[in-house]
Amino acid sequence: VSAEPADLLVVHAGELATLAGPAPRTGPALRDVGALPDGAVAIRGEHIAAVGPTRELERRFRAARTIDASGRLVTPGLIDAHTHPVFVSLRAAEFEMRLQGRTYQEIAAAGGGIRSTVAGVRAADDDALARAVEARLRRFLAEGTTTIEAKSGYGLTLADELRSLRAIREAARRVPVGVAPTLLGAHDVPPEFREDREGYVRLVAEEMVPAAAREGLAEFCDAFVERGFFTVEDGRALFRAARAHGLRPRLHADEFSDCGGAALAAEVGAISADHLLHVSDAGIEALRRAGVVPVLLPGTHFSLGLPSGAPARRMIEAGLPVALATDCNPGTSLTESLPMVMTLACVLLRMTPAEALAAVTVNAAAALARAHDRGRLEPGLRADLVVWDVPDHRALPYYYGVGHAETVVAGGRPVWEKKTHA
Ligand code: NIG
Ligand code: FE
Repeated sequence: VSAEPADLLVVHAGELATLAGPAPRTGPALRDVGALPDGAVAIRGEHIAAVGPTRELERRFRAARTIDASGRLVTPGLIDAHTHPVFVSLRAAEFEMRLQGRTYQEIAAAGGGIRSTVAGVRAADDDALARAVEARLRRFLAEGTTTIEAKSGYGLTLADELRSLRAIREAARRVPVGVAPTLLGAHDVPPEFREDREGYVRLVAEEMVPAAAREGLAEFCDAFVERGFFTVEDGRALFRAARAHGLRPRLHADEFSDCGGAALAAEVGAISADHLLHVSDAGIEALRRAGVVPVLLPGTHFSLGLPSGAPARRMIEAGLPVALATDCNPGTSLTESLPMVMTLACVLLRMTPAEALAAVTVNAAAALARAHDRGRLEPGLRADLVVWDVPDHRALPYYYGVGHAETVVAGGRPVWEKKTHA
């Protein structure tokens, strides 16, 4: 028998967490990472050719390169379903103000917050914007993330929102991270529309949405539905326009108050509703019936020092396919690390390590309409995987705050390797 050719073989995984099976995962299935003892993955081109016991795959394939993952956890490449990567300046002064007792909303109302990041983006040229996103994508990769959702939302003019989306597209050409782009024109009302929020909503719906769709710059359309930002009615109008132009809704819902964001997500057929710290039981039921993926962002809960987080346990008990994401942004959660977010989800939201892993792989893929093609280690799916320097999936959130990604494979190629220094 002649062996089949493979480009890459990953063998002898200490724990191969395949997450194979139902996508997304809900209920008891969330506790099962689909672990394979002494597992191996064979890769040909950009896709997974086979997953199985090492002995079997070594017999079946002749590989150009082999990675020995003895004693190590191997998972699908992580998927971050909610990020705001297009910013050029930080807001450390606001961090300090919050530590002294000012709230996020107070700082925003005083002209800081999102608006200060907007000033930085408007002043940056196209090249600086693309380089900022590129640098961030490289950090995502180093933390084991191979696909992200990426929002605009710090431009807030037609030109600056389109420039932000083009920066995302350009950065994605330079770094091997898969990107799902989202237009977030309705992130905040810009200063020049302070007295005319409705006028700004019309600008987003009637100009930004069609332009982003025309240029193929966005797949999704997001809105920050929150007291002091946009109303449920604004969201409804915006998402009607988004739908008409083929952009699927997703939204920032019930982050600082219960303002009906979850119900709106269900009503407009959003693919995800994100944050949900203040979601009601009726909201949870609405999400379940409409098949909306809840994306929880415990980095904001942690970084803002909020008293309590999203009711993850209630959502899991209700049968929702909970996903987790970083919310990477300079205001409320400045991190590219999904493993850190897994730790926060375990400690603050009482999720189990297995649930947290499903939430950043298979369920995050569902939140991006990519469950058919990534988020699990199964034949035919994209060959995105990570070899971690921890022995099993429990150790990943347990051993926190340090980078554990050892080798990151994206589209079949090892694209990032941890350097060891003498
Ligand atoms: O997801 N909530 C709205 N947007 C971000 C914060 C953005 C900012 O403060 O720059 C969030 O938390
Ligand atoms: Fe966000």
